[in-house]
Amino acid sequence: MSLEREKQLAAEAAAQLVEDGMTVGLGSGSTVAHLLPALAARGLDLSCVATSPATEALALGLGMRVESFGGVDAPARLDIAIDGADQVAPSGWVVKGGGAAHTREKVVATAADRFVVIVSSDKLVERISPPVPLELLEYGLAATLRRLGAAKLRDVPRSPDGGVIADYVGEFDDPEALAARLSATAGVVEHGLFPASLVSEVIVGRGEAVERLTPA
Ligand code: 5RP
Repeated sequence: MSLEREKQLAAEAAAQLVEDGMTVGLGSGSTVAHLLPALAARGLDLSCVATSPATEALALGLGMRVESFGGVDAPARLDIAIDGADQVAPSGWVVKGGGAAHTREKVVATAADRFVVIVSSDKLVERISPPVPLELLEYGLAATLRRLGAAKLRDVPRSPDGGVIADYVGEFDDPEALAARLSATAGVVEHGLFPASLVSEVIVGRGEAVERLTPA
């Protein structure tokens, strides 16, 4: 069974969690690309925010209402956010940012009452491993990279917020300790480690079935 089909099944299951009148955070990536038509097809009255220009363009093209999430007049909370992931550990820790959208994705996930992760079965890993996506400030970039040590710039465009995209490639055992270190490093705008406490549910497409994992 193809991974694309697994992504589609997970996305379609997540679309069923959304109810009329909700504010919805839309993630980014190829799994979310399956979510958007499934959500649009439900014909609900939704107010959405998008985590990337690509998602915004897709959602608008499907006739969905997408609001700005910038500034003080934007929604201060969301009912639900749904997004893909690069790695999901048994502990519930998640790595995101393969598409370099992890800063906005984390802002949206933390604003939501419920954060649902949708993945194909290949994203389930025994343990989180490098690379961990980073968004860095341009200002002081060389000094930030020196302090991070094992970090490499990624050859991709900057984030929509002007951040430089890189990856932490050093080995690590404890995602929580690495997340704390990265968060405490001046010049790191955001990293792609999402704690289990942020994740309400993981919906996994496996073959023609859908599995649901609830992090402890
Ligand atoms: C983008 C992300 C994506 O959700 C993650 O990379 C998974 O992508 P895909 O659904 O294409 O496998 O974090 O920054």
